[in-house]
Amino acid sequence: MIYNQWYVILESKELKKSKPLKITRFSENLSLRRDENWKVWCVADKCCHRWVSLSCWKVVDWEIQCPFHGFTFDKTWACTHIPANGKNTPVPKTMRVKSYKTFEDFWFIWVWWWDIDEIKEEPFFFKELWDFSYSTLKDHWNVHYSRAIENQLDVVHLPFVHKTTIWRWNKTLVNWPVVEREGELLIFYVNNILDDWKTKPLKPEEIKNYKKLFHLQFHYPNIWQNFISDKIRIFAAFVPVDEENSIIYIRYYQKVVTSPFLKQLVNYIGKVSSLIILRQDKRVVETQLPKKSSLKSDEHIIMWDKPIVEYRLHRQELIDKKTRN
Ligand SMILES: [Fe+2]
Repeated sequence: MIYNQWYVILESKELKKSKPLKITRFSENLSLRRDENWKVWCVADKCCHRWVSLSCWKVVDWEIQCPFHGFTFDKTWACTHIPANGKNTPVPKTMRVKSYKTFEDFWFIWVWWWDIDEIKEEPFFFKELWDFSYSTLKDHWNVHYSRAIENQLDVVHLPFVHKTTIWRWNKTLVNWPVVEREGELLIFYVNNILDDWKTKPLKPEEIKNYKKLFHLQFHYPNIWQNFISDKIRIFAAFVPVDEENSIIYIRYYQKVVTSPFLKQLVNYIGKVSSLIILRQDKRVVETQLPKKSSLKSDEHIIMWDKPIVEYRLHRQELIDKKTRN
């Protein structure tokens, strides 16, 4: 896990105002709720004393009491009273439930994982998508989120895994992908062609006008978009659940069709098509072991895997730089 990053963790509509939600992310149980101003609060789903789940706590007007030993907490999750100590004893400042900073926009909820003092900016999003309409699908994968990400950076699998859907032209010969990195944004250009038994793959420096090629973008730690055209995109958020599980939110974004009924129909068809393609990937990726990818691996990586190598390299840099306090 890369610490001190904004992660998309949930779609906004999944968290209702009236009902707290318990979810697992980053191998931890989290409890989310909305307050009267619709603001999202996120805390570790455990009392700081002996780790009793919040789901069995009494919450009345933000006066919160743990049922195990009667510790009470205020709205900021600081402990205000330890009954065993008596009312005359001050409570240590460190006695508080671990809470996480949240952010909400584009109908997603982000959590800053981990150190609240390290927050410097708002999360990155592909902001050009604000005037697109979309539909979302959610899928659970039995892999660490790094494997799910790498699958979407893999340009060699297309004519094999997707030969019955998006890649039917038998374009098995792959020019080496051009990969660029702008800060924490990874951009890679794809150029698969027919194998005429004479041509050899081009190296990145031999590819002219590569900016005109089909391209995809990934932004650390967990969002991606497939740049189908100026008006059609496939977006994905790869949400870490634990070391062997992830949730993928795929959104089909478009602004070709704008009439209310037709756009819903088009978005629905886009969503179903995306699900068919995603399930083709899932069938293969879930067989990869270990479930988590690593920079230090015995896999026989080839030059066409450059987007994956770049992902692993920078991921490792971020892990080394932002270790957990
Ligand atoms: Fe795929």
